Amino acid sequence: MTAFDPAKAFGPDVAARYDDDPRGDEADGAAFLAGLATDGTALEFAIGTGRMALPLVGHGVRVDGIELAPAMVEQLRSKPGGASLDVTIGDMSRVELGRKYPLVYLVFNTIFNLLTADDQIRCFENAANHLTDDGVFVIETAIPSAWVKPDRHDYVGVNEVGVADVTLDVCRYDPVTQLLEENHVRLGTAGITMNPITCRLVTPGELDLMGRLAGLRLVERLQDWRRTPFTATSQAHVSIYGR
Ligand SMILES: C[S@@+](CC[C@H](N)C(=O)[O-])C[C@H]1O[C@@H](n2cnc3c(N)ncnc32)[C@H](O)[C@@H]1O
Repeated sequence: MTAFDPAKAFGPDVAARYDDDPRGDEADGAAFLAGLATDGTALEFAIGTGRMALPLVGHGVRVDGIELAPAMVEQLRSKPGGASLDVTIGDMSRVELGRKYPLVYLVFNTIFNLLTADDQIRCFENAANHLTDDGVFVIETAIPSAWVKPDRHDYVGVNEVGVADVTLDVCRYDPVTQLLEENHVRLGTAGITMNPITCRLVTPGELDLMGRLAGLRLVERLQDWRRTPFTATSQAHVSIYGR
């Protein structure tokens, strides 16, 4: 997908529908993160529509954000309490806010939205630059093998089957670049829509090395916000990095 532009993947159409089907981990995630925002402040990389940030604000935390897509921030602004958050439009691997936080966090597989190892490492470095001395960087993301099987690099997943439309995920994974190209295709009597996205899949071990390059070490790894232990069968992880 050579024409794919990450800045356009979350445009007005995607942003308008983004919160239609809540992921369901917002209350647990916000409670977990609130315990790490020790001075009552936090910075969310890729804050999006505030799906996680606004519940965290509900715990009394001041949440600032960095976000690439203006359309996602417009949705955030339209929600109760969303207009008052301090959000900077830009790339989370590069924007420098000149402020330190006890908690920087990046959730919902979004480390994968950076498409080169260099950008992912730069993201860790930027998180470290925004941390207080004892601050932590929290990443919540999938395990690559939960998405891509060794014998199945090109596949079509069936998302929804309706009478008037179907939604398919058309995917191709390149193990050399670690890029998973996806197109969420909706075929219906009203027409066809395409929502392409490309992700760079990285393992927990690779993330730990990126952390080390940024001067951070893994403090704890869990399977989810409810502190389920991380095991060989976990499909996702919540990883906490500190100095
Ligand atoms: C899956 S959504 C997650 C949004 C929000 N964190 C949540 O949990 O709902 C991914 C978000 O990452 C944003 N994004 C992608 N690349 C980015 C980058 N380099 N810098 C900042 N935001 C980015 C997208 O615009 C989108 O809003």
